[in-house]
Amino acid sequence: MLDGCGRTIDYLRLSVTDLCNYRCRYCMPEEGVCKRAHQDILSVEEIEEISRAAVACGVKKIRLTGGEPLVRRGILELCRRLRAISGLEELCLTTNGSLLPELARPLREAGVDRLNISLDTLRPGRFAQMTRLGQLSQVWQGIQAAENAGFQHLKLDTVLIGGFNDDETDDFLVLTQEHPWEVRFIELMPMGPCASWDKSCFVSADSILQRNSALQQIGSSGVARRYRLPGAPGTVGLISPMSHDFCGECRRIRVTADGKLKGCLHSREEIDLRGLHGWRLENAIRQGILQKPQRHHLAERPSDTPRNMNQIGG
Ligand code: 5AD
Ligand code: SF4
Repeated sequence: MLDGCGRTIDYLRLSVTDLCNYRCRYCMPEEGVCKRAHQDILSVEEIEEISRAAVACGVKKIRLTGGEPLVRRGILELCRRLRAISGLEELCLTTNGSLLPELARPLREAGVDRLNISLDTLRPGRFAQMTRLGQLSQVWQGIQAAENAGFQHLKLDTVLIGGFNDDETDDFLVLTQEHPWEVRFIELMPMGPCASWDKSCFVSADSILQRNSALQQIGSSGVARRYRLPGAPGTVGLISPMSHDFCGECRRIRVTADGKLKGCLHSREEIDLRGLHGWRLENAIRQGILQKPQRHHLAERPSDTPRNMNQIGG
């Protein structure tokens, strides 16, 4: 359906847990997050019910996020149930990749169409330092497992962080010459732990273009401007929420793991969907779509949301 600004809303991002087995420095505090009481988090049945209602309101694509969605108990059952919703065209999932060695094939069998894998650095030492609990080799095995399981057009999501990985962009571009993947550079957004970081950490995605004049634009898809190195099987995506906000093209709404509908990642406004059923649930979703904010204000101030990224889903 159309929102109050005339944008078509057909994409739901569903966070299925706040928990993560990594502690990336920009996203999570070192101690992690308090594990919420089981009953504070939507059950698999509730998530399915909300998803059905969202599809009835015009949603065609659902992406499962977290935290890390693969640490959620019942994730495979959830995927199977969502895939069975008629009218849903695409079921996607964003993961840190660490659990894909075991789960890539079952996810494929459960009907997941596409995977995005987060990968901020190609250097093992840096990876361990940034994720505090992760090992790069796990993610490489995960990427391999995803390919073996039949996931095509993998997207690798790299958050650009000045002074941390901005010297590795050429290495990431080489990956697109060797593999049919889309490597996407995402501008760091000031929310949660990184909201207080130095300005120099916030690097514009356009810096990739300045350093690599060979990149040829091949249009845009969703929020990414897309490029290719001549002859490369893979592509490059630039996602620039800070320097070029794409709010005018936004097609998404979000539901948090505790059942709140958010029209925008960065706004405070939330609509509680829990306890609603049938037409009441659909009406609440329609209301959330109509009230979706026109744009964010990251150029002027940090995110308005009091939530950290792991509590919304990137
Ligand atoms: N800015 C940009 N991207 C972020 N992510 C988490 N926090 C931020 C932030 N502050 C990304 C993760 C992952 C996706 C789920 O969101 O790195 O790729
Ligand atoms: Fe849409 Fe909000 Fe993202 Fe802007 S910041 S693109 S309005 S969800």
